[in-house]
Amino acid sequence: MSAPDIGERPIRTAVVGLGWAARSIWLPRLRRNPAFTVTAAVDPDERGRAAVAEAEPEGADRLPLLAAVHDLDPAEVDLAVVAVPNHLHCAVAGELLTKGIPVFLEKPVCLTSEEAELLAAAERSGGAVLLAGSAARYRADVRGLYRIAARLGHIRHVELAWVRARGVPDRGGWFTQRSLAGGGALVDLGWHLFDIAVPLLGTAAFRHAIGTVSADFITQRSSRAAWRDDGGPALPGATDVEDTARGFLITDDGRSVVLHASWASHEALDTTRVTIDGSGGSATLRCTFGFSPNRLEKSTLTRTVDGTTRPVAVPTEPIGTEYDRQLDMLPAQLRDPAGRGRVIEEVRRTIGAIERVYTSARIPREVRESAPV
Ligand SMILES: NC(=O)c1ccc[n+]([C@@H]2O[C@H](COP(=O)([O-])OP(=O)(O)OC[C@H]3O[C@@H](n4cnc5c(N)ncnc54)[C@H](O)[C@@H]3O)[C@@H](O)[C@H]2O)c1
Repeated sequence: MSAPDIGERPIRTAVVGLGWAARSIWLPRLRRNPAFTVTAAVDPDERGRAAVAEAEPEGADRLPLLAAVHDLDPAEVDLAVVAVPNHLHCAVAGELLTKGIPVFLEKPVCLTSEEAELLAAAERSGGAVLLAGSAARYRADVRGLYRIAARLGHIRHVELAWVRARGVPDRGGWFTQRSLAGGGALVDLGWHLFDIAVPLLGTAAFRHAIGTVSADFITQRSSRAAWRDDGGPALPGATDVEDTARGFLITDDGRSVVLHASWASHEALDTTRVTIDGSGGSATLRCTFGFSPNRLEKSTLTRTVDGTTRPVAVPTEPIGTEYDRQLDMLPAQLRDPAGRGRVIEEVRRTIGAIERVYTSARIPREVRESAPV
């Protein structure tokens, strides 16, 4: 008897990379959602596999714990949720896609334009779809902002800021090493900001992308991300990425974007702020993305027209609701025959802009050495 199609049975899901994101975000939600059944978990590190085994619900059938994606059988996996360190995204997702296994890949999808093309080729050759983590788009307050944006006339300018008071992930681990993370706050928080801009700006390419980076907070112990349980001594690796990035971008159709991503700052609270200037008015959303407990109490959305600023009601929802919502959308996205290539289209634009911001931020050594420390 042939296996029933997706839609008639839960989606057999392999979770690949069993670190913080898999264990805190994806595994609990996949287990709660009846559209999915977790059928395998993969991590070369024994500690990741042991932590998942320990957290297995009482009475559950033993989850196969594998050391490599090589051991996944495409006939038995409908979807792989991939949450490995950034520098492995392309290799791991590429291998799965080439084998014909659909992939839901955490952000940042890739670290270079070259990797974007490798993923596109893997998607084509294996015939499986690449989907990507875009949780912030599924927040109720961001959706509220999109609805208001549709009433602001022509969108001329968007300001995107995610500025944490403190929240450098795993200092000295892979997140703060350029060779493993691809960058700092820009590829990490900035990726989410680029992502929420897509429904506002459409698909026009970025004609210009420039920016600056700095690292004034990254080595301070108080700057670390408390919600990742990394309050102990710093990990032994290098710390050679930025904690703050600022960018200015212009689209081919003449719109401008200001972007500000900070893992740590002088602020008291972790704040995300999005302002849209349109020909018919402006709107601002203030909230806190992500899981930080050091957050704004509630989201506020305002609309300004003709000198009058009015609040717009937005629901307050439990932290992390956007991840459940994105999971709810995955079955339909997996079934959509037009879905292949869609993620890569967006990713090419995002990674191309990030590359150019980093290039423009590079300061010649003689200037850097004469700058104040
Ligand atoms: N969407 C979000 O809000 C969000 C939040 C946190 C992290 N992330 C992303 O999730 C990814 C993972 O982050 P994390 O915080 O869980 O990191 P982590 O270091 O806690 O976990 C990564 C895990 O991947 C494992 N791994 C390494 N090589 C592997 C391989 N070849 N195959 C399978 N597993 C492998 C590691 O052993 C580790 O257990 C990153 O890309 C990060 O940007 C996204």
